Amino acid sequence: MDTTQFAPEPQITVLDTGGQYCHLIARKVRDLGVYSEVRPSETPAGQFRARKGIIISGGPDSVYEAGSPTVDAAIFSLGPAVLGICYGQQLMARLLGGVVEKGEKGEFGLALLDLEAPAPLFDGIGDHKQVWMSHRDTVRALPEGFRLLAHTNTCAVAAMGNADKRLYGVQFHPEVVHTVQGKRVLENFLFRVCGCSKDWNPKHRAPLIEEKIREVAGGRSVFFFSSGGVDSTVAFTLCLRALGAGRTRAVYVDTGLMREGETEFVREVFHGCGASFEVLDARERFLGALAEVRDPEEKRRIIGEEFVTVQQEALESHHVFEGDWILGQGTIYPDTIESGGTEKAALIKTHHNRVPGIRRLMAENRIVEPLTSLYKDEVREVGRELGLPAELIERHPFPGPGLAVRCLCSASTEPVSRTAEGWLLPVRSVGVQGDSRSYAHVICLDQFPSPEADLQRTATELTNALAGVNRIVARAGGKAPLSEMRVFRSSLSADRIDRLRRADAIVRRLSHDSGFDRSIWQFPVILVPVGTPEAPDSIALRPVDSVDGMTARSVSMPEDLLRAMSAELLREEGICGVFYDLTHKPPATIEWE
Ligand code: XMP
Repeated sequence: MDTTQFAPEPQITVLDTGGQYCHLIARKVRDLGVYSEVRPSETPAGQFRARKGIIISGGPDSVYEAGSPTVDAAIFSLGPAVLGICYGQQLMARLLGGVVEKGEKGEFGLALLDLEAPAPLFDGIGDHKQVWMSHRDTVRALPEGFRLLAHTNTCAVAAMGNADKRLYGVQFHPEVVHTVQGKRVLENFLFRVCGCSKDWNPKHRAPLIEEKIREVAGGRSVFFFSSGGVDSTVAFTLCLRALGAGRTRAVYVDTGLMREGETEFVREVFHGCGASFEVLDARERFLGALAEVRDPEEKRRIIGEEFVTVQQEALESHHVFEGDWILGQGTIYPDTIESGGTEKAALIKTHHNRVPGIRRLMAENRIVEPLTSLYKDEVREVGRELGLPAELIERHPFPGPGLAVRCLCSASTEPVSRTAEGWLLPVRSVGVQGDSRSYAHVICLDQFPSPEADLQRTATELTNALAGVNRIVARAGGKAPLSEMRVFRSSLSADRIDRLRRADAIVRRLSHDSGFDRSIWQFPVILVPVGTPEAPDSIALRPVDSVDGMTARSVSMPEDLLRAMSAELLREEGICGVFYDLTHKPPATIEWE
């Protein structure tokens, strides 16, 4: 569903070469008051003659590989200014006669940008500024007429430009929040280089979305499987306003994979909205279907499909659903992009609301997703606009597949082994590196993660240097030394999920009581099957800071809080150790699976 159709003619087109941040670029441009659109990268240049500027996004491919996404090279002499970001810079370099090669090392996460020459793109930006990188390939030789504008420690061509032709390239990502002056770089491009004018007010989205809901629903009603999270509740409330209580209903499915106290919380929220709400107990069927499943993508697929089956059964058997009903979902933009949902983006994780059963319903036009072009922070803004309670809007995100993707399982029992850097934990977790999915091992540093130690920097260096590792943790406490620990054969049993649920409740309580939860974006708690025969599991703590979930920083926790948390977790039966996740996203994703 396109919620932007009431928009003006775009001044900026973002060409999509499959990057994870492509849509985010368009959104950041709109946030700066300039209406922008996303189009497939190969769209003929002639269609963009009236634009003020064109931005080529990043992407997961290598420009020198056959069949990799490209652009119509005529855009470089068409008239509008062009900015290439990451893969976009490499594509610009190659198409204009420069050279792009694989770098000696990858560069993922934070780097410092040193400026080489003045350029309008960098007006008002001091030297040595923090930028966010995610690449392996790099520009080796500039095209004719271009100047080197900036470098970092590991990237010789971090920015280049041809001022006469108004063509610029940057290897870093100005669109992500961790590039400190990224907004200024985009602002400079829009107003100093392209000469854009402000034509877009990002506020007041709700009425437009409601109108679109009425259009999509036609005479039909909408029902939601609500999780009580921000996205599904905001989506539900928009439908409630658009269609009225008689045509909007919510069912809460107890999958057995929810956090402690969740059902009661959701009941209260819906009560507060004046909406009807019912609970469907599906614990046995979800846990039964997942009993021997260990692969993260398989878990996600099964959970998504179980939701579809439950929904079919509810529709067929239930007296409530008389008449023509369609399914409402709180899908937001990152769910779509990370599920490989745009033409060229790589699959990072299949979100539960993008499994084949749901895609079938989409093809039959039986789904309404009011938030699908928004990011989390925008959803929160809409929620505020709608007057939803702060307690709900400020909730940390929680993934639809619930505790299942926070409970790691292993098919075999294996020793933990010593490496030059620390200890290799033979479990795997998901990452996103250079815009592609990785599923790689974890290294544990045998060092307490005090805020002063700055182990996050060590983690960045290690994941840049070591192939086959995408996540680094530090040991915050344990009942046994790492040398005595093993990874145990394990599955998604009710016992282990209960263990994780108790640990999660401890972490939530302590971080809430200390106020720490207000300083972070999300705090996943993961059960990892590493320990001793007496206590076969450990807990990984993953507090992160983010704005939209697309990139994230591992956050340090106050030392006394971490010690107290670790001590309380270790008093739980079955828990052997407490790990602290030091990895930013990229290279690791926020959730481990
Ligand atoms: P990752 O792990 O991909 O997560 O860095 C980014 C954000 O998305 C949440 N997440 C999900 N949310 N359904 C959801 O509704 C899902 O299947 C899902 N998987 C991840 C995650 O918690 C984080 O906030």
